[in-house]
Amino acid sequence: MHRLLIAIVSMLLSVPLFAADAPANYVPTVLVTGANRGIGLELARQYAARGWNVIGTARKPAEATELNALASDSKGRVSVEALDVMEFASIEALARRLEGKPIDILFNNAGVTGGGENQQMFRNMQWELFDSVHRTNVVGPLKLAEVFLPHLLAGQQKKISNVSSSQGSIGTNRGGTLYIYRSSKAALNMVMVNLANQLKGKGVSVALIDPGPVDTDMMKSLPKKMLRPVPTAAGDLIRITDQLSVANSGTFWTFDGSVLPW
Ligand SMILES: NC(=O)c1ccc[n+]([C@@H]2O[C@H](COP(=O)([O-])OP(=O)(O)OC[C@H]3O[C@@H](n4cnc5c(N)ncnc54)[C@H](OP(=O)(O)O)[C@@H]3O)[C@@H](O)[C@H]2O)c1
Repeated sequence: MHRLLIAIVSMLLSVPLFAADAPANYVPTVLVTGANRGIGLELARQYAARGWNVIGTARKPAEATELNALASDSKGRVSVEALDVMEFASIEALARRLEGKPIDILFNNAGVTGGGENQQMFRNMQWELFDSVHRTNVVGPLKLAEVFLPHLLAGQQKKISNVSSSQGSIGTNRGGTLYIYRSSKAALNMVMVNLANQLKGKGVSVALIDPGPVDTDMMKSLPKKMLRPVPTAAGDLIRITDQLSVANSGTFWTFDGSVLPW
């Protein structure tokens, strides 16, 4: 009765408040960008361990040894696809290869910092690097959302989960470095909040999640004791994505589930 009432209200508002019940044998699909190493590889592993279909992307699939090994052991559940998130042609080609395939979660994980040493001082900025980092961290994820919207609408969960960073929080920034990376993650947050607002009516939800400092190649200059293990960080990203809904769409979480200031 209660569920019927919600369905009627949902219909009147044209806002799907919960996804239609999935068939009992429905296997969700996640597309993870940058799945050849670091957090992305571990996301692919953990979703595969849950029995999900995983589309793991890599710029150079032939060199993605660990992702290919995961795919080989997966009985067809894990596939490896070529994708460079900087290239629209690459994003569009992937969408064409996956045409008609429902995707439950687009996990925008691929990202770059541009190197800390290259963005310490405003008078020593590397402008081409600025463009390429923003292309990777902001333009790529938004273009992926645009191109894969039909796939997401065909899926049950309709979620876009973005690996953001606390470095993108303007409210907590007391530093004066990392101009390029910080501004890219702040911009990612902004475009994804726009998207959350615009896609709510279609039942699509959007998350921005900071994994904390994680022990990947990206952070290899930091002492390991400051870093979180990759499996823990990926598990946190998945747990928060599980809790994502239209009602809390557009939130900027950190790994423990608390909300970060913009
Ligand atoms: N590690 C941390 O402490 C930390 C903290 C906050 C946020 N994050 C975010 O977490 C995400 C994953 O980072 P990570 O720590 O796992 O870093 P990582 O180990 O350096 O891995 C980065 C991944 O992104 C891929 N990538 C980079 N540029 C790409 C492009 N143009 N097209 C497709 N793939 C591309 C890389 O592929 P290649 O192997 O081809 O380069 C690699 O798979 C990033 O968005 C990062 O900003 C990380």
